[in-house]
Amino acid sequence: MIGRPLVRQLVAAGHAVAGMTSREQNAAGIEAAGGQPVVCDALDAEAVKRTVAQATPEVVISQLTRLPADYNPRKIDYGPTNRARHEGGRNLIAAAREAGAGRFVSQSVAFIYAPEGGMVKDEEAKPWIGAPEPFANGAKSTLDHEREVVEAPGMDGVVLRYGQFYGPGTYYASDGSVAEQVRRRRFPIVGGGGGTFSFIHVEDAASATVAAVDRGAPGIYNVVDDEPAAERDWLPVYAEALGAKPPRRVPTWLARIFAGQFAVIMATELRGASNAKAKRELGWQPTYASWRTGFSEALG
Ligand SMILES: NC(=O)c1ccc[n+]([C@@H]2O[C@H](COP(=O)([O-])OP(=O)(O)OC[C@H]3O[C@@H](n4cnc5c(N)ncnc54)[C@H](OP(=O)(O)O)[C@@H]3O)[C@@H](O)[C@H]2O)c1
Repeated sequence: MIGRPLVRQLVAAGHAVAGMTSREQNAAGIEAAGGQPVVCDALDAEAVKRTVAQATPEVVISQLTRLPADYNPRKIDYGPTNRARHEGGRNLIAAAREAGAGRFVSQSVAFIYAPEGGMVKDEEAKPWIGAPEPFANGAKSTLDHEREVVEAPGMDGVVLRYGQFYGPGTYYASDGSVAEQVRRRRFPIVGGGGGTFSFIHVEDAASATVAAVDRGAPGIYNVVDDEPAAERDWLPVYAEALGAKPPRRVPTWLARIFAGQFAVIMATELRGASNAKAKRELGWQPTYASWRTGFSEALG
């Protein structure tokens, strides 16, 4: 999702970009975005070393993930993503160091803060370690990867905690799996709907990443829009942008039975994130400052 806009924006900013994919058939998309495609499995440490060395990179960016096309919080298996992000990420870090890169930029998620205290968190806030499965092992692997990036010796490590992506190709795009659930009225407002989401358009996630290639002290940055929002507020606006009927409301006990504890906590307890540090230190501004207009203007 982020890869193609990111390659396009990096090239537009004057960078020479090698774009890695594990699948031959995805090479054309990288080329169309202006990058030099390289086919390599991130889980093959030796191949990654050779591939990265050939690119002689100044900066290496990891966007490794392996999420399913359908988003279902009850069934989601973070195993493949954990492997791609953590093991693949570790291979990339080692290869970047060996190739003499000075900076490593990697992705993480902004929906990782413990559901306690204020509803909007900065980067110092406690992450959610004791979440119900399947989120807990996803969070652990994400935090382990973050640590390995920030502590990588000899390189500046930058972690970008992106909000929920919307825009072309995402779960929230008009043809995405969340859109389908909302159209079928299977994505209700649960209980008071106080769970706070932070969104980011993929083009803005990409522009923050381009900024982080050149700027910002090593460390962690939330990359989210300006308006963290409770589910009860954003979901009706999203449904309207899709031309769908308004979402139903269901009590938490019922949602727990049908969707599971993790989905209920997301809908009622999730914390949002502040982008103040990214704006200040990366000199970055999202084009879509709020989902409120972004959903109707650029859903994809
Ligand atoms: N989607 C969201 O709402 C969201 C929110 C916050 C953060 N993030 C994070 O942002 C990052 C980018 O997300 P995205 O939605 O753009 O992901 P995506 O579309 O699934 O892209 C993942 C990329 O990883 C590559 N990849 C996976 N396994 C690989 C392997 N073994 N070898 C080489 N390449 C491999 C895939 O390439 P091929 O398939 O072509 O091999 C693909 O280009 C992810 O790390 C994700 O966790 C996403």
